[in-house]
Amino acid sequence: MQTTPAMRRNTPHERRGAWVDRWLALRDRLLTSRTFQRKAAAFAPTAPIARLRARELFDLMAGFVYSQVLHACVQLEVFDLLAARPLPVSALSHRLSLPIEACERLVAAAVSLRLLERRSGDRIGLGVLGAPMVGNDALAAMVKHHTALYADLRDPVALLRGENATSMLAGYWPYADASVPGKLSSESVAAYSALMSASQPLVADEILDAYPLGGHRRLLDVGGGEGLFLASAAARAPQLQLMLFDLPAVAERARRRSAEAGLSERITIVGGSFLGDPLPTGADIVSLVRVIHDHDDATAMRILLAVRRAMPDGGCLLLAEPMAGTTGAETMGDAYFGFYLLAMGRGRVRTALELTDMLHAAGFDRVEQRRTRVPLQTSLLVARAAASGATP
Ligand SMILES: C[S@@+](CC[C@H](N)C(=O)[O-])C[C@H]1O[C@@H](n2cnc3c(N)ncnc32)[C@H](O)[C@@H]1O
Repeated sequence: MQTTPAMRRNTPHERRGAWVDRWLALRDRLLTSRTFQRKAAAFAPTAPIARLRARELFDLMAGFVYSQVLHACVQLEVFDLLAARPLPVSALSHRLSLPIEACERLVAAAVSLRLLERRSGDRIGLGVLGAPMVGNDALAAMVKHHTALYADLRDPVALLRGENATSMLAGYWPYADASVPGKLSSESVAAYSALMSASQPLVADEILDAYPLGGHRRLLDVGGGEGLFLASAAARAPQLQLMLFDLPAVAERARRRSAEAGLSERITIVGGSFLGDPLPTGADIVSLVRVIHDHDDATAMRILLAVRRAMPDGGCLLLAEPMAGTTGAETMGDAYFGFYLLAMGRGRVRTALELTDMLHAAGFDRVEQRRTRVPLQTSLLVARAAASGATP
């Protein structure tokens, strides 16, 4: 006799799932009821929770305005100005070339967001969130380039439906959409390469603290941009020889920057596309920093396979990028990068587990995650090239 679903006894796991579903259905009914909302806000033990939830929802609704207040402060260089000393609003309005009322308005908004603070004598100083922005070219560059994302997100439903005729971000990252990325001009790679270099110091220290390079001989940075990650690695590991692979126009920029940094003797720079050209061999360690998340699964696999082919058995791979599902940084992965990469037109942020599976499929083993201090900037997977027989 065949067992029907009705006859099958539920497992403990299914029974627990059913209880959770019932509890969540009850919670939904309560939270959507206006009467419950009113009572919860008036009842002393639940009032703080009700206020907190209302505030969280308001902040979600208003978040894009807060971002623009930050943008105005960055564009006007308010933080650098006030780093020297706190100023009265009148002096600030003069220095910013803003009418006094407009300056008052900006200051009030920035004070409420803890970017600025009111000080004695009616002066305005840095707030706890504004102070870290001082001299921080990386954050300033990130904030400024959000103009493109902001425009692309104007109609998020159209974006989700793929109905946006143009994407400013795709223009900003031209390799995302290029049929022959190797042919991109130096003008088209200039803006994103400068942004990557400005923000690289935030990332390099995280990676190099989590994985010191003392035991390695030669590091190849694939998609290495203008070479800032390699320069940080070189400063920490004097024995290390360096190799960089990036699109020809970016490689040219890397050559100039490496010469300025006095690294020409230690570095080999190769221009090409990892989607068609072979990667240089000879490195015992390879890094992919903020590269894989830019690409859809099939392309990401092609890159990982190309990297594996360029490595000796047992060679080490560092895969560093923001990852989805990072505890404490869930919004960064799924909300921020989820929509950022959608607007850009390709790529996705993956969990450490998804990347681990891809690495295994590309011929790597012994994949382990190393803790980084600020996973908001980057997480890190370290993998070993499996013995050649195991390479797909
Ligand atoms: C998001 S940036 C990261 C740069 C650098 N690793 C960093 O973290 O600052 C991605 C890099 O991949 C490079 N890239 C994109 N497509 C490429 C391709 N087909 N071949 C080689 N490099 C490519 C870009 O030029 C860029 O430098």
